[in-house]
Amino acid sequence: MPDVPHETRSPLCSLKSTALSGRVRVPGDKSISHRALIFGALATGRTRISGLLEGEDILRTAAALRAMGCPITNSSGEWEVLGRGVGGLQQPDGAVDFGNAGTGVRLMMGVIAGHDMVVRLTGDASLSRRPMGRVLKPLQQMGLEVLNGGQDKLPLDIRGTTDLIPIEYLLPVASAQIKSAVLIAGVHAAGETTVIEPEATRDHTERMLAHFGAHVAATKRQGLRAISVKGDAELVGSQVYVPGDPSSAAFLAAAALIVPGSEIIIENVLINPTRTGFYTTLREMGADIAFIDERNQGGEPVAEIRVRSAKLTGVQVPAARAPSMIDEYPILACLAAFADGETRMEGLAELRVKESDRLSATAAGLIANGVDARAESDALVVRGGKAVRGGGTVATHLDHRIAMAFLTLGLGADRPVVVDDAAMIATSFPDFVPAMENLGAKFAAPEPVQ
Ligand code: S3P
Repeated sequence: MPDVPHETRSPLCSLKSTALSGRVRVPGDKSISHRALIFGALATGRTRISGLLEGEDILRTAAALRAMGCPITNSSGEWEVLGRGVGGLQQPDGAVDFGNAGTGVRLMMGVIAGHDMVVRLTGDASLSRRPMGRVLKPLQQMGLEVLNGGQDKLPLDIRGTTDLIPIEYLLPVASAQIKSAVLIAGVHAAGETTVIEPEATRDHTERMLAHFGAHVAATKRQGLRAISVKGDAELVGSQVYVPGDPSSAAFLAAAALIVPGSEIIIENVLINPTRTGFYTTLREMGADIAFIDERNQGGEPVAEIRVRSAKLTGVQVPAARAPSMIDEYPILACLAAFADGETRMEGLAELRVKESDRLSATAAGLIANGVDARAESDALVVRGGKAVRGGGTVATHLDHRIAMAFLTLGLGADRPVVVDDAAMIATSFPDFVPAMENLGAKFAAPEPVQ
C-alpha cells in the first residue's frame, strides 16, 4: 500500500523560538486509553472514563468495539462504555479498519481470539507494513485461527474460539503489546495464562486487569517477571482516570530544554516507572527536571513535570532502558543534537518496526538538518553541541512521533525545519501545535516547492 500521495499531505514547519513558558496539559495516555475501552467492553456494567485520549488511534479502538456490539458514548469528554462481559462481543458486519494503530489492532487480536467470530482486520499503509506474527503466534497456540495461510501482515482474517487454551509464553521480544494480547486472550481461556518477560515492559494491562477485578499476579521466575491471569474471568465495570501521556509530554519537555530561558510545567503526567526512562536519561544529560506533587490516580502514579532549559551533555543510553522509553528515541535523538558531545542509544532493534523504521527515519531527518548522526543496526549515534543548521525537509513516513520530534528540533534550529506531513500527529496528540504555540513555540506553513 503506498504512503499518502504528495497532494494530500499537510506539510508544516517550525521556526526558531524564544523562551517558552507556562503550564500545559497533554492528552490522555495512549496505552491506558486503549486498555480502558477494551476492559470496559469486556466488563459487565458501566465503565466511565475521564481523560481518554481522543486521538485517531483510540477512536479506531472505540469504533472496533462498537462494531462488535458494545455501546460507547462520549459526552463532553466523559466516556461511557456499556460492557458486554467477557466473551460477550459479536461478530462485526464488515472489515475493521485500525488506521495507524498498532496497539489497537494487536490488543484487539487478543479480544477476538476469545470469541466465536471471524474478523477481517485492516489498516493504513504504515500499519500494513508492521509484523503481526509476533502476536498471532502465541494466540494461535491458544486456539486462534489465521485464515490467510502464513501471512503476518494486514489485511488479515482471523477466527476466534470460545475454547481458548491457556498457555505459558516467554516473550521473544520486550513488547507490552504481545504481553497484553496474550493476557487479554487469557482472560477468556479456561485456566491460568502466564506471560514471562525477559525485560519489564509497561504494566498498564496488569494494573488495569486488577482494577477491573481480575485475578492477576506478578511473580519472579528465574529472575524474570511472570504475569499470570486467571481465565473465565469476571471483569466489573469501573471508573478509569487516564493520566497525561508521558510520551506526548516528552516533546514539550524537550522543547523547553532546547529553547534557552524556558520554564514550563506539564500537568498531570503519568510517571509509572515502566514509562519514565526518557526523564531518567534527561537528568543524566544535566536537565533541570522535577516531578512535583507525586500522587496516585486510579492505580497509576502521576505528577506535574517542571522543566527548565539547561546545558546538556551527551550520554550513553543503555539497551536495558529501551522498554521504558521505546517511543521517546526520536525526540531524544533530536535533543541530543543540542547536547555537547556524543549520545549513543543502544538496543533499538524494535524501533525498526514502529509506525515507521524510526532508526532510519530519525537519522535521515537529523542529517537533512545538518546534524552529525548515524543509525547502526540497532543503535543510534548523535554528535551534538554545534548550532543546529535546520533548513531540511523531513520524511515522516506516516509516523506521528517523527513529525513531532522534528517540529520540536526546529524550535532551536537556525533555519526552519519542515516535516512533509503533519497529519499523523492527530493519532496521538491532536492539539500538539496549539499546545506548543501556547507556550510560545512558532510554526508556519512551509514555502510551496516550485
Ligand atoms: C505499547 C507498547 C509499545 C509502544 C506502543 C504502545 C502499548 O509497543 O511502542 O506505542 O500500549 O502496549 P511494543 O509492545 O511493540 O514495544
